[in-house]
Amino acid sequence: MKNFKDPWKTRIARTLTAMLKDAGIAGRVEPSQVVAELPPQPEYGDLGFPMFGFAKLFRKGPPLIAQTLAAALTEEDARCPESREAAGVFAACGPYLNVHLDRGAAAAAIIGPVLEDPALGRPGILTGSRIMVEFSSPNTNKPLHLGHLRNDVLGESISRILAACGAEVRKVCIINDRGIHICKSMLAYKEHGLGRTPESEGVKSDHFVGGWYVKFSRDLKAETEGLKEKGLSGKEAEAEAPLQQRAQQMLRLWEAGDPETVALWKKMNAWTVEGMKETYRRTGISFDQYYFESQTYLLGKEEILKGLEQGLFYKAEDGAVMVDLTGEKLDKKVLLRSDGTSIYITQDIGLAINRNRDWPFDRLVYVVGSEQQYHFQVLFAILKKLGFEWANNLYHLSYGMVNLPEGKMKSREGTVVDADDLIDSLRDDALAEIREKEREDALDDPKEAAEKVALGALHYYLLQVNPQKDMLFDPRESLSFNGNTGPYLQYMGARISSMLRKAAVPQDAGGEVPGGIACKLLSGDAEWELLKTLAAYPDAVADAAARMDPSVLAAYLYELSKAFSRFYHDCPILNAPQADLSAARLALSRGVLRVLKDAMHLICVPFLEIM
Ligand code: ARG
Repeated sequence: MKNFKDPWKTRIARTLTAMLKDAGIAGRVEPSQVVAELPPQPEYGDLGFPMFGFAKLFRKGPPLIAQTLAAALTEEDARCPESREAAGVFAACGPYLNVHLDRGAAAAAIIGPVLEDPALGRPGILTGSRIMVEFSSPNTNKPLHLGHLRNDVLGESISRILAACGAEVRKVCIINDRGIHICKSMLAYKEHGLGRTPESEGVKSDHFVGGWYVKFSRDLKAETEGLKEKGLSGKEAEAEAPLQQRAQQMLRLWEAGDPETVALWKKMNAWTVEGMKETYRRTGISFDQYYFESQTYLLGKEEILKGLEQGLFYKAEDGAVMVDLTGEKLDKKVLLRSDGTSIYITQDIGLAINRNRDWPFDRLVYVVGSEQQYHFQVLFAILKKLGFEWANNLYHLSYGMVNLPEGKMKSREGTVVDADDLIDSLRDDALAEIREKEREDALDDPKEAAEKVALGALHYYLLQVNPQKDMLFDPRESLSFNGNTGPYLQYMGARISSMLRKAAVPQDAGGEVPGGIACKLLSGDAEWELLKTLAAYPDAVADAAARMDPSVLAAYLYELSKAFSRFYHDCPILNAPQADLSAARLALSRGVLRVLKDAMHLICVPFLEIM
């Protein structure tokens, strides 16, 4: 793994060590101890080295160390002026050593790793760690909706980002396939379905099941309205409604293993799961392992009884097992009901423990909506109480709600936006745009291209916002070809590809910087800005991983595209005044394409060679 900062860290460490010796202090500074930052403002130079970490060793304030270091480096260069990999102009600024790089030397050092290193200079900061990421985790009574699309792309993207930093990642999904919700779809189907199937109706199988859930909800509403007119309160009416009671009865039959109920459950769940998997395939989401609630819901009980024995939990008057988390600034919470049945948190405790047995992880990330924040605080506190070491490394990647602007699109239920319908409609709009721009003939498969544009638009839009924030998804804006969008990035990629094709430069462009390419010619302002943006890529990936926030990468990609646009506008590439300048600019463009493709993959925006 190469990174253009490395020669700098080596040089600074060497000089600091020499300074220690001069001061008569024993010890040395290793390159790994040197922190190199990319300053946000050009007046601070191109690289900044904070000296805070060395104050103790030198027994001096960071500003004084920075001053001495700047002088020592300048003096070194005066003594042997032959150009080094790490050459520049040095200045102390408060606790920082700032460096204005020698552009020519830096250009080669930046492009090198981007073209030669399969990891594009990304630091392997998570190498050796095992991280499990849970995401999507749908219920099987209805198909995926817009909220799942945000969850799915967050989970998939974070998994890719963590893996890009060297982690071993395992993507998992818990399918909540049991409980009253699925019995509702089952009941409506049983009473009104008359042997109909997804095939007989020509409907995608998860939508077919969802249709019965909608039917149940409507019928139940009619029943409760009727009961309310007779004077029952809303709550009473809900509980008394015959449909509700029949659904509950069905759940009891399921738990008792009634063959007919179980067979119906199997059939309908298989339909839903099959339909969901189709949506996952379509959106490029995948899992290494599926867990099913029907197989895990009995887990956890034993652990809770063990905890009760150890005195970690207590029994309430009614016999329920409880935990007191007031010491942790949380509440008291039921863990097992008085009749011994489990609740949501019971199975989550069992599931976490089981997952760690299946695949011992260092960290487990749960991508789940922000409305479950409290649930996860409680879950993590309980697992800590139970003494699991890994419980200190559980993380709830909580995300906000996503809605469509009023009136943009109606779903079957009128409230939730169906995932497949939304993608279909984005694809149709993208296809219309392709036709309008008369690009159909240039494309092998316009419909496939439109699908990729739709996914790029959707995924970028969903990820460009900080996960915690609620957001509106605006389909029209997401598809815009100019602006901060997925299609804009895709267009940029296609434009560079097309230019490289014209120049007959290999597309994927791994391999060495061809000998004789004079990177030092890339010293114009637009070239320099673009080079510095490329150099910032490894940090952007590391930052996105540390913050578990793909929007960092979305913002990076937008900066990269803007910097490339400026370069493309200011600097003729194929028609550069000299052949070696043209070659150097092509090498730079190849580097941009590699980083663009890599980062687009990390945020699940499909790449298109032609657009
Ligand atoms: N299926 C649940 C829902 O739709 C989310 C499950 C989240 N994961 C978990 N381990 N509790 O709300």
